[in-house]
Amino acid sequence: MLEVNPEKRTQIEEKVQDLLSRMTLEEKIGQTRQCGPSLVGAFGMSFEEALNMMMDGKLSKAEFDKMIESAEMDLKEDDIRAGRIGSFNGVTGAERIHHIQQIAVEESRLGIPLLIGCDVIHGHRTITPIPLAESGAFEPSLWERTARMSAKEAAADGIKWTFAPMVDVSKDARWGRISEGAGEDVLMNSCYGEAKVRGYQTQDPSAPDAIAACVKHFAAYGGAEGGRDYNRVELSEQRLREDYLPSYEVAVKAGALTVMPAFNTISGVPCSCNSYLLTAILRGEWGFEGMTISDANAIAELVAHGAAADRKDAARLAMNAGMDMDMTSECYIEEMKELIESGAVSMAALDRAVSDVLRVKFELGLFENPYYMDEQDPETAFLKPEYRTIAREAADKSIVLLKNDPFGDRDAAAPVLPLSRDLHLCICGKLAAQRDEMPGTWAVNAKGNDCVSIVDACESQKVNYTFLETASADELSAHAAECDVFVAVIGEPREWSGEASSRSDLKISADQLDMVRRLLDTGKPVVAVLFNGRPIELTFLKENVPAIVEAWHLGVEAGNAVLDILFGDVNPSAKLTASFPYNAGTCPCYYDHPNTGRPGGRAKFTSKYFDAPLEPVYTFGHGLSYTTYEYSDLTAEVCPGNVPGDAAPGIDVQITVKNTGSRAGDEVVLCFFRDPVAERVRPVRKLAGFEKVSLEPGQSKTVRFHITRRQLGYFNSRMNFVVDPGEIDIYAGGSLESCLEASVRI
Ligand code: BGC
Repeated sequence: MLEVNPEKRTQIEEKVQDLLSRMTLEEKIGQTRQCGPSLVGAFGMSFEEALNMMMDGKLSKAEFDKMIESAEMDLKEDDIRAGRIGSFNGVTGAERIHHIQQIAVEESRLGIPLLIGCDVIHGHRTITPIPLAESGAFEPSLWERTARMSAKEAAADGIKWTFAPMVDVSKDARWGRISEGAGEDVLMNSCYGEAKVRGYQTQDPSAPDAIAACVKHFAAYGGAEGGRDYNRVELSEQRLREDYLPSYEVAVKAGALTVMPAFNTISGVPCSCNSYLLTAILRGEWGFEGMTISDANAIAELVAHGAAADRKDAARLAMNAGMDMDMTSECYIEEMKELIESGAVSMAALDRAVSDVLRVKFELGLFENPYYMDEQDPETAFLKPEYRTIAREAADKSIVLLKNDPFGDRDAAAPVLPLSRDLHLCICGKLAAQRDEMPGTWAVNAKGNDCVSIVDACESQKVNYTFLETASADELSAHAAECDVFVAVIGEPREWSGEASSRSDLKISADQLDMVRRLLDTGKPVVAVLFNGRPIELTFLKENVPAIVEAWHLGVEAGNAVLDILFGDVNPSAKLTASFPYNAGTCPCYYDHPNTGRPGGRAKFTSKYFDAPLEPVYTFGHGLSYTTYEYSDLTAEVCPGNVPGDAAPGIDVQITVKNTGSRAGDEVVLCFFRDPVAERVRPVRKLAGFEKVSLEPGQSKTVRFHITRRQLGYFNSRMNFVVDPGEIDIYAGGSLESCLEASVRI
């Protein structure tokens, strides 16, 4: 939680009110406007058209990038001078940012600095694993450190605000943006978001190397029907509050200075004009005093939703609901003056929005130090050796060992991995050499050549290897004999996950699977290394390949980290935070589901698909190690509740874990519970806590969890929060399947 110094708060409030009292209506409206730079001279068409041509394959990515590079940016300098812009998104480069900031500070009437935002989602230049991957490290201090590093690099580049963390619970692997968050569980997203806010903002957001966080996408964007991006979200009030809202609340209460409402509707009301969310819950219930910013163009999109009659109506609805800043739709700047003059929006509503914007600018120290990092050479501030070390650690800790069986006639006790460095590896698949693919989605400032591919890592580490891009039959007949083991590097291109990248099918492409079949036909061991941005269909690989390494999109140190795991220099420790469904048809597929009256089974009239297993191929919490762990001594006891004056109890749990193998390892211990009888049926398992422990061979540790009353309770059908007296089942261990069980009466 950010500690707010009351004296500083009062001073800021006075400054905000003083400034506000000196502003013209136009200047006020200007503060609520965020612009993107327009590109001029590059395209004989609009940017959108060019983008669509690239998406349709009519323009290559390289051609598109070249056009952008040759473009001149219209930075709307006259508007900055006139106080008609409060913020920019998408302007990069310290010098350029310095230039526009100077115009705002030195040439505009009131000298109000610009707030420069950017999507620094998992690294600025030192790209770290996508959030879905990094969440699998189950390590809040790592999450915080990578955010700290991103903030330092971004601040050095003139950026003072990131549109992260995304804390959208994502239960559907078809949704492309599952890659940007911490998976299917709300506690995971809460802990992940809280750590990121701490890392970006620190205790003092005005520090030169701190940047503002933006909690997004408020709310429940991950609940899109059918996993289709931007689609409607239909949730009961109870489910919204139990399974989705807590992650935003935790990140807000960690002190996040800004919040971004989501594109979607909830129960028919778009989040962008949802006063229940933006005013009643966010500000009323949670006490948020920061600033809200719409998602890109989302205010204008209220017309397409069918919520607003036209752009003016959209601006009215959004402002009156509590949306402070308009990201790039230009509805506020074009329509607000008339709305105020006609009384459709009150001056008080606009003043509130402007105060929120100014308050954030003061809290970030922009008035005192608008140029923050200007004395540092940005290029030397990027990709420092110590940053690469953190990126490699994060990548090592994000890789999930999904499967590791013995192969063929090898000693049945010896799994395929780790590999000996004496072996000759045959690395197959073009993803092994594609540096550009390593950053994954939302790495806007990434440079492909900053990334180490698997082939790069093999070169620099002098691995005995052969690289075959497609492993065609001819290539294999020429090379198979000299190789000891095949490493099939397959998965999804980075463009297949992230925004607007929902899939109706989660298969690995046929050409990649054909390649795996050819490798299996050689009769030699095959290890599959996967680069992907979401859970994908792994049925074939699970049945046929002895070892599977889930490497996600790992960022700049991808290749080195994969070799760390393959050769056993690092013992894998990550676990899945999103379940891998059998196929797309079984989505959404997640661990914390209720049972139904006819839980899926063999019998005909049960809740299942008759043509596909209901169970995930790999479920939440799955992840292997090169050592083994044994769990014992699970105890669960009722303890006094954590709410003062409230007699309702919480539960203390403890369990002992021992490293029974011969290698040191880090083990993620998971604790779940179930309330088996409740007025509103509860999930079969609910994550109550996690902790990662380091264990030498033979070493044991006892891990303690405290399950709070807030976790045990739920909203009953009359929307009262209740904790049912009765039995609570406790499960703790290394994976959902292997948990020890206890039960306790509360
Ligand atoms: C995305 C946001 C992002 C914003 C700004 C939108 O399309 O939904 O997550 O922060 O663009 O670039």
